[in-house]
Amino acid sequence: MTRILFVCLGNICRSPAAEAILKKQIKDAGLENDITVDSAGLLDYHEGERPDPRMRRHAALRGYVLDSRSRPLKTKDFLDFDRIIGMDHQNIEALHRLAPDAASQCKIQKMTDYDPARPQRYTHVPDPYYGESADFDHVLDILEDTCRELLKTLSAPPCSA
Ligand code: 4NP
Repeated sequence: MTRILFVCLGNICRSPAAEAILKKQIKDAGLENDITVDSAGLLDYHEGERPDPRMRRHAALRGYVLDSRSRPLKTKDFLDFDRIIGMDHQNIEALHRLAPDAASQCKIQKMTDYDPARPQRYTHVPDPYYGESADFDHVLDILEDTCRELLKTLSAPPCSA
């Protein structure tokens, strides 16, 4: 069983979308018994809230159901998950500050590490919260590509250290 945790700032836009997209790809691949997916936020500001209605609407148009509730990241998540995947550089910096030990540091990755394009198209998944409709679609485009690439790697170990 591989356990994946997506992390963004508020856990209402990017990481719940990544969670729903990867879950659907896992279901389509028949891998539900092999991989679990969750998401969390670096802020607790939106705790208990459903994902942002704009993200839910754009995701629904592509067939994804965003049914998670925002929750803040816990130190225990570093023990409970195999890969902790942040959306942008600020997320990654925060995760490295919060990681309790070296093994936890080793689990931290950036979503765009899984950009399948060479050279890479994307350096980060941009925060759409203060953006417009096209920004939400752009996030979903990036997440669909990177989740597909992530899924391909899930039989490989996350880190050799
Ligand atoms: P997310 O987007 O990190 O993709 O969930 C945001 C949601 C809320 C806020 C910032 C980013 N906020 O500042 O409340």
